[in-house]
Amino acid sequence: MEAMKIYREKNEYKEAAARARRKEILREGQRIFSTETFQRGQTQIHHRGTTVANHTLEVTDWALRITDALEKKGIRVNREEVLLSALCHDLGIVGRDEKFSNTLQCWLQHPKDSVEIAEDLYPDITDHMKKVIGRHMWPATPMWPTSREGWILDLADTIASMNDFFRPHHEHVLGDMPISALFS
Ligand SMILES: [Fe+2]
Ligand SMILES: [Fe+2]
Repeated sequence: MEAMKIYREKNEYKEAAARARRKEILREGQRIFSTETFQRGQTQIHHRGTTVANHTLEVTDWALRITDALEKKGIRVNREEVLLSALCHDLGIVGRDEKFSNTLQCWLQHPKDSVEIAEDLYPDITDHMKKVIGRHMWPATPMWPTSREGWILDLADTIASMNDFFRPHHEHVLGDMPISALFS
């Protein structure tokens, strides 16, 4: 009985944490969700079984999970920068078939395009955040992250991508909420 109680409490704690992250993403992401680019990302297939928009939410959720774990260990992280960088990191890949002629060009260029879009959305973006976004494709490209926020984004992108490829029907960050609800 005691084990059941611990299990139930653990699950409740996990669900509450997931709800808190979702709330944070929905609150902080409004400016990004309202862009035409993000909304186009809703229909662009990404990593075979998902879309750029879904992948973006997934990466952001993982980035916050990693941040929570590090903060619990007493490691300071710029949470806002992690959150916004994750939400912006693949905006530059929207329209990939028209923009890029091959995969390598896409890998090298889309992070730079994402930085430009992030600059339009947040004119006072720091050079540090530009690096976090611009270096998220390591090890596919040789530009490795240079900060803890950069490593968090890189790791979150890798985990979410593996989820996209190997668990195509994984649970959705938004739960039962349709992604179109983000734009209304
Ligand atoms: Fe990317
Ligand atoms: Fe990504």
